[in-house]
Amino acid sequence: MSKLPDVLRAPRLPIICSPLFIISNPKLVIAQCIAGAIGSMPALNARPSELLDEWLAEITEGLDAWNRAHPDRPAAPYAINQIVHKSNDRLDHDMALCEKYKVPVVITSLGAREEINQAVHGWGGVVLHDVINNGFAHKAVDKGADGLIAVAAGAGGHAGVKSPFALVQEIREWFDGPLALSGSIADGASVLGALAMGADFAYIGSAFIATEEARAPEGYKQAIVNATSDDIVYSNLFTGVHGNYLAPSIRAAGLDPDNLPTSDPSAMNFGSNAKAKAWKDIWGSGQGIGAVKAVVPAGELIGRLEREMEAASARLHGIRPAAGHASTAANQPVVQAKA
Ligand SMILES: Cc1cc2nc3c(=O)[nH]c(=O)nc-3n(C[C@H](O)[C@H](O)[C@H](O)COP(=O)(O)O)c2cc1C
Repeated sequence: MSKLPDVLRAPRLPIICSPLFIISNPKLVIAQCIAGAIGSMPALNARPSELLDEWLAEITEGLDAWNRAHPDRPAAPYAINQIVHKSNDRLDHDMALCEKYKVPVVITSLGAREEINQAVHGWGGVVLHDVINNGFAHKAVDKGADGLIAVAAGAGGHAGVKSPFALVQEIREWFDGPLALSGSIADGASVLGALAMGADFAYIGSAFIATEEARAPEGYKQAIVNATSDDIVYSNLFTGVHGNYLAPSIRAAGLDPDNLPTSDPSAMNFGSNAKAKAWKDIWGSGQGIGAVKAVVPAGELIGRLEREMEAASARLHGIRPAAGHASTAANQPVVQAKA
């Protein structure tokens, strides 16, 4: 485990619920945080942009009210995702609102930017930047990101091609700051696996699409429940950047998921006039959804992850004596959620 800033030590669970374009909303974020995981949403989900003010107020007030009523079980901090790509013409507006609400954690994606990191530090916030390889990880830290999100193969949305084992190992060789691992994590044993590899957090997206609070059509939620990794297709056609998608939604759009044309990064557009069409009609998902068996409230999903983490920890604990270790501190459960 690395040295974590206070705000990242606060959550009861080593889980960050990742931002989901269109899908995440204040109700989902509040449910995630009060269940003990860091909840998040993209600033761009608030449309028109003025809505972001209301949404940040709703999250702040919702979490404050929870904390007043449950001082013994405080909510985890929340995070806002900023797409820092040059096509995002709302960035200055959205950053000003993040400053107004002193957003505790900012997740940046698609190009690390020094001035954004400095702005977040100015109000005492922490920046986590997502990367798909070790080279981008170096660049992000050089530009002042506090922590990294290693997006490995099999992640939903824009995903890399690196094995999580290779990616975390390479980053941990030189970086001892906050590190989250992303890609196909949807059960508690995998959360524990991410920690064992050297990450501080598991970063989980697709599993939260199949929650009651998620702003996704029922058909999308059910597709997440029904699908497995065999149904996931990796393509750059829809946004210009490679990502993972549900094959049935590609077929429904009249395309052959096994023979998709290719695109290129110049197709990326996160501007206010972008139609956000790709993510609406073509459903993004990571490979880990075999673990998702039902649409449930987000708090229930986090409860399952927590129970599975404890069971996996107990399993490891049970294995250790057989490996010749006496009953010592080393035999204590690997992970224990904070009270
Ligand atoms: C439908 C969908 C939308 C996403 N939208 C965003 C986004 O707006 N910003 C972002 O940083 N990541 C986005 N992601 C990627 C997630 O943040 C995260 O890396 C990924 O979901 C983790 O892999 P998993 O889905 O296998 O858990 C999205 C993922 C999905 C599935």
